[in-house]
Amino acid sequence: MTLKFNNKLMADSTIHWHGFKIPANMDGGPDFPVAPNTSMNYTFTMDQPAASMWFHPHPDMQTGKQVYMGLAGVFLLNDSITAELEQRGKLPSGDRDITLLVQDRRFGANNHGIRPLQYMNMDMDMDGMLGDIVLVNGSQSPKHEVGTAKYRLRLYNVSNAKNYDFAFSDRRQFTVVGTDGGLLAKPTKVNHIFLGAAERVEIIADFSKDKIGSKVALISKAFKDDVMNMGNMGSNDNNMPNDTMNQDSTNQDAMPMQGRIANGREVNIMRFDVVKEIEDATSIYTSLPQKAEIHNRLSANNADNLGNERQFNMTMNMNGRGGMMTFVINGKMFDPKRVDEYVSANSTEIWNITNNSPMAHPFHAHAIQWQILSRNGVPASGTDLGWKDTFLVRANESVKIIGKFEPVNTGDYMYHCHILEHEDAGMMGYFRVGTSGNLN
Ligand code: C2O
Ligand code: CU
Ligand code: CU
Repeated sequence: MTLKFNNKLMADSTIHWHGFKIPANMDGGPDFPVAPNTSMNYTFTMDQPAASMWFHPHPDMQTGKQVYMGLAGVFLLNDSITAELEQRGKLPSGDRDITLLVQDRRFGANNHGIRPLQYMNMDMDMDGMLGDIVLVNGSQSPKHEVGTAKYRLRLYNVSNAKNYDFAFSDRRQFTVVGTDGGLLAKPTKVNHIFLGAAERVEIIADFSKDKIGSKVALISKAFKDDVMNMGNMGSNDNNMPNDTMNQDSTNQDAMPMQGRIANGREVNIMRFDVVKEIEDATSIYTSLPQKAEIHNRLSANNADNLGNERQFNMTMNMNGRGGMMTFVINGKMFDPKRVDEYVSANSTEIWNITNNSPMAHPFHAHAIQWQILSRNGVPASGTDLGWKDTFLVRANESVKIIGKFEPVNTGDYMYHCHILEHEDAGMMGYFRVGTSGNLN
């Protein structure tokens, strides 16, 4: 497939295909910038399971701003296994397969009917840009009319920094059937699901027992977050509103900060209005067909770097611009000319990501779909058994992942925190797969 990108912006940009197994020179990293008024053809083959993917720009230090201003899109990958499940009534499809892009944004004062998007206009935004309004597919608090049936909702957290603890207003159960990299081998029932920035899930919401006329909201529950608000720590600027939450109180109880919804406060996302009777025979699959690639669990024993796992340590330090607090991986700020890690072609590797900073960071690595082995030594279970390209690493948590680099994976790729303001400030590095790449 070839996609042509014409850059009509006044700045360098790229298109990064988030979650795809793709050669590095087609991956849209900052090492392949597309200059204003030029174009680039992205040509690649999609050889991986059906999944809810997305794409966004990845230019050096401008990713957060460009995504925030609107450059992020959905890419749904289908395959014969999902088609078959849909056909056999094992997954809702058609108008009962709904993609929901959740993003928070901050708007300025109304000026002749226009409220301009505000980006990074507060000191504290350095810990991640949070908005004052949550949008779904670009609308504030939308409602969607449904029938008495099961619906497949593809929830995308494509916010720059915000976490969501998705749930329904009546706390009903729902079934998670997919994660970043495809369907789960075995669906799992939950009543809430926590997503960091860039993570996705596919869930089955069941409205079959609801009365006509009833309304159910999709919300983000209040949660206790690893709280930051240290954006101007180390600087002498005292203009920061002083309503910072305490580490030990639930953020819900905290005073709302002007201009942003604190991570952890309950928010209404959207509403489902049950308006019609539908005869629905869907019964969700209980196990993926045997031939599904998702069944292949990589075993730690087969890793080429067993006993010498690659370590990624996330910390906070004061070496940012102007003595500002910043987050780094393995003690280093991003250097666009430096390859940080060298990975052998076609190898299977275990990576261990440890967060020694006081806040949660969604870790993302390009090139492949990863499998989570364990968190703080506890073997993965539930939705962690799904394939992931991005996963949240809480403060004081270590997450061990395993992945197989395939022939298509060659060149220089990024790993980074997917809080885009952290990424742009340097919480990112390059890894080279194979012997050659674009960098020095
Ligand atoms: Cu979603 Cu390196 O990106
Ligand atoms: Cu990516
Ligand atoms: Cu981060």
